[in-house]
Amino acid sequence: MKATFISLENTNDFSILKTVGKEIREGKLVVFPTETVYGLGTNGLDGNAVKKIYEAKGRTSDNPLILHISDLEMLSQIAKNITEIEQKLITSFFPGPFTLILEKTELVPNEVTAGLDTVAIRMPSNKIARELIRYSGVPIAAPSANISGKPSGTMLQDIMEELGNKVDYLIDGGKCDIGLESTVVHVIDEIPVILRPGKITKEELFEVANASVIDKNVFSLCPLSEKPLSPGMRYKHYAPLKPCRLIYSKDSTKMIAKINELIHHYNGHILVISCTEHKNNYDTSYVLDIGSKYDFEEISNNMFSILRKVDTFPVDLVLIEGVSKNGLGLAIMNRLLRACEYDYLEL
Ligand code: TXA
Ligand code: MG
Repeated sequence: MKATFISLENTNDFSILKTVGKEIREGKLVVFPTETVYGLGTNGLDGNAVKKIYEAKGRTSDNPLILHISDLEMLSQIAKNITEIEQKLITSFFPGPFTLILEKTELVPNEVTAGLDTVAIRMPSNKIARELIRYSGVPIAAPSANISGKPSGTMLQDIMEELGNKVDYLIDGGKCDIGLESTVVHVIDEIPVILRPGKITKEELFEVANASVIDKNVFSLCPLSEKPLSPGMRYKHYAPLKPCRLIYSKDSTKMIAKINELIHHYNGHILVISCTEHKNNYDTSYVLDIGSKYDFEEISNNMFSILRKVDTFPVDLVLIEGVSKNGLGLAIMNRLLRACEYDYLEL
């Protein structure tokens, strides 16, 4: 199957989405932009259609999907018993890069939730995504558009090759604004628990709910003996094929010295993913600039595209500079740790 390509990057005329929406309702697979990352979506109320997503991604069927909605009326069809705190979070963070785990209704097929009695719900702010859902008339089930384990797609060019022959439509909306997947939150005993950090930070959640915590598995791979709050915590993610190591120190001089020491040890066969400010300090010809260390939004925006380039370099090891875990830094470090399969050195 060869996908139909639609470019909506430089237009405000989204009328073509009426046709694509109808196709989604009938169970076709569509890659579409959101403000976080590209999604691989279909009719979220049709279990057989949803099964095709798992096949296309090569995703295990025990890792549930997010239902994307265009308005609050759709929310009431798929979630029930919404508490006061949950309602506050919905009012504050929908639409946007925020996913809330809620009790599901009978309408939500088991294929979406992997048999759980909760469902993950997000209302994207991206106009193309919202119009697509609205025209579909159903919630769109969509994981990030990438083969399982690979970095999420933030530009259509990055994922066309791996998904182009597995889906019916590819919609190009340009580079995603944020570049990191949404913050996933489950409210437990009235406390918002962050299952996956993202653009909406712990501090912002605290302002709305007077409490917020980060689940312990955000910084470690959940052991097989434990049942994680979010099945996604069990899986390796974002990992290039080359071995990667994350190195961080509050003291930049120390961090740069350690990285150079390793470069010499490997006779220069090392790729460094560096911030703009440090990139000229390394004794290797292989350096990728991830963005300014003073601009976490820029780093988020570039991160997945950079991770996708890593395997094209003739090196033995990739060293990645870490950032502080403040604000959006938490989400950046969470993704980088997983890309490095938790090979992390803090000095
Ligand atoms: O920004 C995003 O969230 C993107 C765009 C496309 O919306 N989507 C995305 O989906 O990142 P995905 O499938 O790659 O990640 C969804 C995460 C997974 O880690 C999954 O385990 C978790 O949400 N999740 C889904 N349903 C859940 C549930 N009922 N309880 C706990 N975790 C859940
Ligand atoms: Mg994903």
